[in-house]
Amino acid sequence: MSSAPGTLDGARVLVGVGAGIAAYKTAHLVRGLVGAGADVRVAPTAASLEFVGAATWEALSHHRVLTSVFEDIDQVAHVRIGQEADLVVIAPATADLLARMRIGRADDLLTASLLVTRAPVVVAPAMHTEMWEHPSTLENVRVLRERGITVLEPAVGRLTGPDSGPGRLPEPEAILEAARAAITAPRDERGGVRRDLAGRELLISAGGTREDLDPVRFLANHSSGRQGWALAHAALVRGARVRLAAANVGLETPPGAQRLDVGSAAELARVIAEHRGEVDALIMAAAVADFTAADRAGAKIKKDDGDDESVPAIALRRTEDILRHSVLDRGRSPRPAIVGFAAETGGDGATARELAGVKARRKGADLLVFNDITTGVFGAADNAVTILDREGEEVARAAGSKTAVAHAVLDELVVRLPDVPWSA
Ligand code: CTP
Repeated sequence: MSSAPGTLDGARVLVGVGAGIAAYKTAHLVRGLVGAGADVRVAPTAASLEFVGAATWEALSHHRVLTSVFEDIDQVAHVRIGQEADLVVIAPATADLLARMRIGRADDLLTASLLVTRAPVVVAPAMHTEMWEHPSTLENVRVLRERGITVLEPAVGRLTGPDSGPGRLPEPEAILEAARAAITAPRDERGGVRRDLAGRELLISAGGTREDLDPVRFLANHSSGRQGWALAHAALVRGARVRLAAANVGLETPPGAQRLDVGSAAELARVIAEHRGEVDALIMAAAVADFTAADRAGAKIKKDDGDDESVPAIALRRTEDILRHSVLDRGRSPRPAIVGFAAETGGDGATARELAGVKARRKGADLLVFNDITTGVFGAADNAVTILDREGEEVARAAGSKTAVAHAVLDELVVRLPDVPWSA
């Protein structure tokens, strides 16, 4: 492995391209991977070159492009490329390519490399809805997933013709984040992603709530939603089903996540209350407003032009503490396991760590992920956290990318999940 843990920087990534029109979007994915510091090799199927030619892949990846096992025989390319990869991403994967993968064909460089590799494999299918929903394809996808391959759900929307439905290639940004989640994930014995959340249902809140003061203004916070998103991507590659309560997040939906958009703390509270009884775990990564306007003004609040000193008094009231409420609502049931987040700066003679310990005991969640924001993390790619249990004792630490932090949180969560999955 050449890559640093938790990052695509320096990783050797093999990008396989199937023969679908969506191959043009893969050019953006390759750019994104190269931009993240990866050393990318592209292995297109011969038929895919009808859509995007070798020159494009060579220019973007800075490597010669091979398609057949009979090229560069002296260097045994069909074995070496698969052996050397730290990660394989296939986009788009056609129904035919999924079928060939499932039965273990090795009739071109890409499929031969897939038999050789011991790296995580992320597959982004794209095809017409009828082909995606065909029993053969569904069966192939199920078998590939059981083997530890991450097959992303296609996006729903307009397809090549006038039709629309599930079958669109997810946006390159979303595939890139899934790739990041896969390369950072814990591994199974064959080097693939460990699917320790298969059969589990997670509810994750992300982003920051907005509390309207009047029709044009609101109280908000700096949360970007990136930590919640990283958790969603990480949980999905580990096999979970994810419901993502997104408070004002402008990021591409992780492929396969059920996105539940909300605005205010009250809306988030409603969505969490509606879903928390149907999941194995609740992760509250959202930054929730503690106060909202006592009375939202129906019309824009005006300044009094005649008096330069006049300032409106905006009365606030407390919002529901969703995390605390969820812990109380659970009562003695083991479900859902509950994870909170705490961003602390310290003050009043107490350190940030001390305040986090107090908060862990007060909130009563199974885990509290604490970060010291004295140095600032909002919107940043990296994070450093201490994970506390409900007594406020440290159980783990994690530093690095938000993806690495996400996997560390899931590592602790997975051993605290209820014995019987909600879906059982
Ligand atoms: N949280 C919540 N509902 C709220 C406020 C916070 O569920 N109304 C959740 C957050 O999603 C997070 C955890 O509680 O998981 C801690 O959030 P934080 O803002 O640090 O805690 P507060 O209880 O608001 O404490 P304080 O602002 O006093 O530090």
